Amino acid sequence: MKKPTLLIVDDDEGIRKQLKWALEEDYTIFLASDKESALEMISTNKPDLVALDLGLSPHMSGETDDEGLEILHRVVKRDPLTKVIMITGNENKEYAIKAIQMGAHDYYFKPIDVKELRLIMKRAVHIQGLERENIRLREELVQKKQFAGMVGWSPAMQDVYKQIEGVASSNVTVLIEGESGTGKELASKAIYEKSDRGKGPFVVINCGAIPENLLESELFGHEKGSFTGATGTKIGKFEQAEGGTLFLDEVGELPLSLQVKLLRFLQDHQIERVGGKQPIKLDVRVIAATNRDLEQEVEAGRFRKDLYFRLNVVRILLPLLKDRFGDALLLAYHFLDRHRSSQKRKITGFTPEAEKAIQTAEWKGNVRELENRIRKALIVTQGPMITEKDLGLENDQGIISFSLKEAREELDKKYITMALKNSKGNISKASRELGINRVTLHDLLKKYAISMPTGDDDE
Ligand SMILES: Nc1ncnc2c1ncn2[C@@H]1O[C@H](COP(=O)(O)OP(=O)(O)OP(=O)(O)O)[C@@H](O)[C@H]1O
Ligand SMILES: [Mg+2]
Repeated sequence: MKKPTLLIVDDDEGIRKQLKWALEEDYTIFLASDKESALEMISTNKPDLVALDLGLSPHMSGETDDEGLEILHRVVKRDPLTKVIMITGNENKEYAIKAIQMGAHDYYFKPIDVKELRLIMKRAVHIQGLERENIRLREELVQKKQFAGMVGWSPAMQDVYKQIEGVASSNVTVLIEGESGTGKELASKAIYEKSDRGKGPFVVINCGAIPENLLESELFGHEKGSFTGATGTKIGKFEQAEGGTLFLDEVGELPLSLQVKLLRFLQDHQIERVGGKQPIKLDVRVIAATNRDLEQEVEAGRFRKDLYFRLNVVRILLPLLKDRFGDALLLAYHFLDRHRSSQKRKITGFTPEAEKAIQTAEWKGNVRELENRIRKALIVTQGPMITEKDLGLENDQGIISFSLKEAREELDKKYITMALKNSKGNISKASRELGINRVTLHDLLKKYAISMPTGDDDE
């Protein structure tokens, strides 16, 4: 097995030699005597372990500490899994705490006992191995549990994947429905990628984001001089998507006048530019998405019924995140891995409470909300684990991290303890106060393992 690499940073040549001699059997060792050479070696050799002496310069005292912390900061920023062991002759506890908060693995006060230091290093390497393995396994798991970039393996999503697989290779129009943030755009891309059109263009247009008077020319293009300002011929999104796929996002926002033009395309695959004289035949597959109920829009007269039927050949409904059992945590780790790389702090995962909060949150904004919360948490967290507070998912923020049963039991315990305290441990009094009989109270005491305050049992 390859030896782990260790960088020893110390201005004292004697100590460098001593440590090298003592540790070279177990480590591939690099030596640095000052900040510059240390930083140089860190970036070129990427050591697994750094033994860092704070008092780098023999002449300065106060400021030298900062040099050590600066190196520490750079190491942790480059790779948070690098284990830095601070070694110092200065028994300053506050500094030790600061170093640990900044991501040092451990702290060691001189004089050096090589045996002891060797043990600390061995443990650091062991922990590092576990952390790396953990991240690798997690990434592997997330890798396995996704489909064309869509993360999740709940039965509800596997159903979606099957539908996508089923329609991808045909040219049929697909309508993707789902609430905001459920991944409609991602699903449309998955269809595109899995189809034979994967090499052709994938063109996106959000029908709700473009002013009505510009939308027609955006979609269908225009001829030179067709209206004031049309100084040249413009190719619209339909033509841009030739040979590929056009994704019409928020199709429910399409004004009635343009609904006619879209219908025409779906019927005979032809469009006409604004001001154009000739129809243009195109080979474009249309995928449309909506978070409105189109059926209702039809009833309200805002959406053409014939267009609705044309679009609705195949309909894929994306489930709410809260209905995808087990996926929220998988997605959370996926977003953590995706957004962590740009993050300086050493963040290795979520606390158990945070995991629970993620699994039980309502996720009204679905996957997008989850992603946003993780992005924000990465900024505010003190690390190394993201807490439910970092995620803004504390109990009082409207999320439920208890099951109803657990919540009831918690309340039971609180009431019983309170009643026992009031009655100074008198069971009869307490049971009267609680409105239950003594047998029931005894049972509950046993169930919840509530100990009696000192006092007598009965009246
Ligand atoms: N299953 C998933 N796996 C990984 N990332 C996802 C998944 N679903 C959604 N996302 C991510 O969540 C964000 C929102 O997804 P997307 O834009 O596809 O949702 P949407 O349904 O189109 O939302 P809206 O209706 O608000 O436009 C994107 O950053 C997307 O990459
Ligand atoms: Mg969208």
